[in-house]
Amino acid sequence: MGKDRHFLDQLLSRMTLEEKVGQLSLYSADVKLAGAETVNPALTFKAPESRFDDIRAGRVTGVFNGYGEDYVRSLQKIAVEQSRLGIPLIFGADVIHGFRTAFPVPLAEAASFEPELAERVAETAAAEAAAEGLHWTFAPGADLCRDARWGRVVESYGEDVLVASRFAAARVRGFQGGDLSDPRRLMATVKHFAAYGAAEAGLDYNTAEISRTTLIDHYLPPYRAAVDAGAGAVMTAFNDVDGVPASANRELLTGLLRDRWGFEGFVVSDYNSDFETVAHGLADSPREAARLCFLAGLDMCMQSGLYADHLPGLVASGEVEEGAVDRAVLRVLRAKQALGLFENPYRGLGRAFDPAPARALAREAARRCQVLLKNADGVLPLKAGMRVALIGPFAREHQHLNGAWAIFAANGLSVNLEEGFLAALGPDALVVEPGCGIAEPIAGGLDDAAAAARSADVVLLALGEGQHMSGESRSRSDIGLPPAQLDLARAVKQAGKPVVTLLRTGRPLAIPELAELSDALLVTWFLGAETGAAVADVVLGRAAPSGRLPMSFPRRVGQAPIYYARKPTGRPPQHPPGPFTARYIDVEPTPLYPFGYGLGYGRVEYGPTQVSVAELGWSETLSVSCELVETAGAAIEEVVQLYIRDVAASRIRPVRELKDFRKVAIAGGARVVVAFELQTADLRFAGEDGALIVEPGAFDVWVAPHAQAGVPARFVLLDRHGAEPPGVG
Ligand code: BGC
Repeated sequence: MGKDRHFLDQLLSRMTLEEKVGQLSLYSADVKLAGAETVNPALTFKAPESRFDDIRAGRVTGVFNGYGEDYVRSLQKIAVEQSRLGIPLIFGADVIHGFRTAFPVPLAEAASFEPELAERVAETAAAEAAAEGLHWTFAPGADLCRDARWGRVVESYGEDVLVASRFAAARVRGFQGGDLSDPRRLMATVKHFAAYGAAEAGLDYNTAEISRTTLIDHYLPPYRAAVDAGAGAVMTAFNDVDGVPASANRELLTGLLRDRWGFEGFVVSDYNSDFETVAHGLADSPREAARLCFLAGLDMCMQSGLYADHLPGLVASGEVEEGAVDRAVLRVLRAKQALGLFENPYRGLGRAFDPAPARALAREAARRCQVLLKNADGVLPLKAGMRVALIGPFAREHQHLNGAWAIFAANGLSVNLEEGFLAALGPDALVVEPGCGIAEPIAGGLDDAAAAARSADVVLLALGEGQHMSGESRSRSDIGLPPAQLDLARAVKQAGKPVVTLLRTGRPLAIPELAELSDALLVTWFLGAETGAAVADVVLGRAAPSGRLPMSFPRRVGQAPIYYARKPTGRPPQHPPGPFTARYIDVEPTPLYPFGYGLGYGRVEYGPTQVSVAELGWSETLSVSCELVETAGAAIEEVVQLYIRDVAASRIRPVRELKDFRKVAIAGGARVVVAFELQTADLRFAGEDGALIVEPGAFDVWVAPHAQAGVPARFVLLDRHGAEPPGVG
């Protein structure tokens, strides 16, 4: 039963309108989550008993953020055994970066520049969550973002369209695998469609003021990549796009997603975002909100109950056709069918999950996404036998290890820095002092910290953001280090010992003074379950840092949004900044650390970029290569990056665009040639009417270690001479 379309048509024919609308209504689980945080506003929370009545009456399609054998089994039993048609519930959840085992936050994962690592992590997270009865995750987020003030950059893959697209697609593959009915898999949701990351001024939920071509060239492709990878669901965004809130945006949900991209899964609102079209000023009543959202192409309401309240009336009045409701319901039922829920509504429950390999993978991932930004005099890795002072508000705490949206993983189960270094060094070589709180001084803290620093050979300074400083609704207008922490860094520096800063953060920070005070600067993000162990691995040289920045680090918040793929101006920035050029009079226009930047323990020198031909035929492939030499005699994993610039085009193109990247292992002293292929289709962009085009002419191309490095080679794309354009459109 349940395998064929016929079965679903039959089921549909037996459903009342109320039952149909029930399949379009998703509600929060009303249970307390493991993480102490509240992830959503309390809106329509009901007493659990009345939710049972709703399930029994077929008014609920599924619940989210509740899990576990007893919970899932008890609710599913009501749905399957006591509701009239026995349609199983779907259990969704925000499995964003791990389930019980917390993995690095997505921004950190992006810093690995290894989408295949993200795929393995997603697969593991899916298996752990599915064993507790979950079927569906609200991930991956595919929101491109360029403004570090926005708190949800922590959930993103950063500023680059190619990086975000590859990671979003990899995570869909990891969560879903090849067969959704496999009880170790979760159905994925691409969110938040669309342009949520373009929130003006970095203010969460704010309008996305964005040109059509920037939307097409930069913001849409990551969602598209995830859809093409087979994601089963799409979640709408809270923001408006060009004056129409995403949840009621017919052009986005139907014109683009369904008609042009061919998406066949279902579209779910974000938490109450459908209802919020009233507050947006689009709909003049909740009923009108329901009508607009439904007609735009929104299939399912999350938490608002909007369709439950208004869709039957809209059908009765003829404003909504019942056939359209049927199509939405079928999309939801097909997802439940693909998950195998009609055959086995209790899928996953009782399946054993071994957490040990998950912890090992968490440690591997956490090692591979740390980014070394500075390493004066080769202070890292630490020499054996050094006495270490671990100082700072993050040295000995258990509340800020996992980062935002690790709502099923207790921070207390994660290894903190002190534990990680104690295990590696033993108690005699380690002294630990907090020095200050995250935002406030501690009485006597600076003196104690300075004394600890003097007693040691090297200081590890654990500074940065608390878990509550990035994430949803956590935008910041100042992305510097809290003053109390900067005072600590200054006091510790006075001790005269080398200072290695371990920077915990969910976003790029503006930290020029801290960078100055630090001999070494290692970005450690929020790394999850194995934080302390993985940071110790890198600091002590058991693993080398191989992460690179997925977002530019500004010098000052006033530069935001700052990103490498900016459009050229007619008066480009100069170094040093000159009058009548694009400059600030009080800060250099460049980032403190550019996109793609990061060091290893070896050192790589890049030879000139070589192109296989100076003139490229329309349907030919260009090979772009570069010789790399490791010159420090230490093995390194280098993230080699391929950039282009379209020198002149009918719509001006960014000063650089990343077109490929690869992490390459190079032995100490070795020489390797790295080659990339470039096709005509890689050169496409949105033309005047929004259609993708490629224009012949000159292109610059770089193989480089980051977005500001290298000397370009040039090639000319020849006219097509009657040949068919490559796969664009
Ligand atoms: C967030 C979503 C999340 C949903 C359910 C919303 O506030 O924007 O990303 O999936 O809540 O928890």
